[in-house]
Amino acid sequence: MNAQDRHRFQDDGFLVLPGFASRRQVETLRRRANEIVAQFDPQQGRSIFTTRNQAKHSDDYFLGSADKIRCFFEEDAFDENGELKQPKELSINKIGHALHDLDAVFERFSRNAGVRAVAAPLTVDPLLYQSMYIFKQPQIGGEVNCHQDESFFQTDPPSDVTFWFALENADRTNGCLWVQPGGHRTPLRERFVICDGQASLEKIDSTPWPDADSIVPLEVEQGALVVFHGRLPHYSAPNRSQQSRHAYTLHVVDGRAKYSALNWLQRGPHLPARGF
Ligand code: FE2
Repeated sequence: MNAQDRHRFQDDGFLVLPGFASRRQVETLRRRANEIVAQFDPQQGRSIFTTRNQAKHSDDYFLGSADKIRCFFEEDAFDENGELKQPKELSINKIGHALHDLDAVFERFSRNAGVRAVAAPLTVDPLLYQSMYIFKQPQIGGEVNCHQDESFFQTDPPSDVTFWFALENADRTNGCLWVQPGGHRTPLRERFVICDGQASLEKIDSTPWPDADSIVPLEVEQGALVVFHGRLPHYSAPNRSQQSRHAYTLHVVDGRAKYSALNWLQRGPHLPARGF
């Protein structure tokens, strides 16, 4: 990350680094994700992931996954009888949320020198708090509503940075990211918190989400890294194409900032969040 990259990140709230991950690294992650799904017994958890009403769908399986490796289904994976409409491997929305600490393959990638170098100028004391492997399955890959990742990772002062690695080409047809350039300077609109074991998405600012004219698609090729500010509004459309859109994400916060006790994702002493 050179000085120009840093300025661009400061101005726009995001940065695209094409060709960040090698084909071999990408294939290694994809193969490992497939193995995890192959070993997953759907009877363990039929939890779905959707941003349409995440608080309602935040069951114990989801809320207890901060320090686990668990699979979550696409909302449209099941038919009216509760049966999978297609094979399990084409029904999973994501794997979360501690791949980077509990799986050797994902840990090696997440803590490689390249990722560390990108994080260095953005966070003084980086802690890797959460990881997700996102499938965005063909035809049923769900929409992710416009949001700011900081809503899920509140620290004082704010410090969340998201790393989004394209493991397949992502474009408008298969649900690429859309972001609001400069939108990281707008207020935080919502916070997703846990109170008495109950998840809720609280509205804390009435600033509207960006309209269609101020949000742009980030069409990137396999291997690209998109790194963005925790307050940057972004979303992704449903994937109605025949082509999946796999991505791997990492959330990093600054260890010097106070991590909110209300954040849904908490790490206990048995598996504290670690740096690189
Ligand atoms: Fe996000």
